[in-house]
Amino acid sequence: MGRVLALEFARVTEAAAVASARWMGRGDKNAADDAATTAMRSVFDTIDIDGVVVIGEGEMDEAPMLYIGEKVGTGAGLALDIAVDPLEGTNIVAKGLNGAIAVLAVAPRGCLLHAPDMYMDKIAVGPAAAGKINIDAPVEENLKSVASALNKKVQDLTVVILDRPRHKDIIANVRKAGARIQLISDGDVSPAVATAIDDSGVDIMLGIGGGPEGVIAAAALKCLGGEMQGRLWPESDTEIERCKKMGITDVKKLLTMEDLVKGEDVIFAATGITTGSLLGGVQFTAIGARTHTIVMRGKSGTVRFIEAIHRFDKKPAFNIKTIF
Ligand code: FBP
Repeated sequence: MGRVLALEFARVTEAAAVASARWMGRGDKNAADDAATTAMRSVFDTIDIDGVVVIGEGEMDEAPMLYIGEKVGTGAGLALDIAVDPLEGTNIVAKGLNGAIAVLAVAPRGCLLHAPDMYMDKIAVGPAAAGKINIDAPVEENLKSVASALNKKVQDLTVVILDRPRHKDIIANVRKAGARIQLISDGDVSPAVATAIDDSGVDIMLGIGGGPEGVIAAAALKCLGGEMQGRLWPESDTEIERCKKMGITDVKKLLTMEDLVKGEDVIFAATGITTGSLLGGVQFTAIGARTHTIVMRGKSGTVRFIEAIHRFDKKPAFNIKTIF
């Protein structure tokens, strides 16, 4: 995939972020998600790719668009796997909290894990600590090894964990080891990516979150030279069956970077909806909106932070008629 495509995908996440940001703090997570999804879908239609959604808004019968298996793009161009989360952090936007993003990852057909919509246990770190983690090792061991790779003390590490009862033991173990914790209410893609961004203030992301989100974060870490390890966390026989239907026979397999995202030919784009550790949120201005996007390509390793000013008078696609 060429560099021009990277900019095209940044346009997709920008549109989703602006549409969704209008719903910030309005207490309606579904409306915020619908707005992001509709905007994302409409910009995809303008891009010359033969894309298939492999991670999206759900199965065909439960999502009106960007469902798994849906074709996106004009159909002319490269055959690509598309993973999208038009609004990562629906509750965050509904409550006006920090860290919601519009995000996507793209790779050649067959290169993204078709992760079923279920939980995944994850550990993510940036480039300096890549190769030094083991999801099966005790938390304390991973913290020591990451601290040593980052040339820091364990007590100076910042570990991001979703604030959930299922993480009681992990949180207790991190505290026992002495590291600092940032508990988040939602949205584990952004902090996983932030582990690989200098000065983000995030060193490790740990714990059980969405499986699809794990693949999307792994795509970003591929571009950045970081590492994620994952393991699907099915909660019922039905979920185990779903894994098998999707071609995952060994449900308990440790998923490496290559399992999550094959090869280096991957593009990741994300635009901030509300301000977080990775990106600034959408700001509405007198003439339109200002957005903050990160877009990167695995092939070149280039990471671009794009601050864009959108004029609604010249961009009808962004000038979404609000229902307020
Ligand atoms: P949304 O689907 O509402 O945007 O939530 C995203 C998310 O917070 C992910 O970032 C995270 O991986 C997952 O949900 C956690 O799931 P749960 O809320 O069930 O613990």
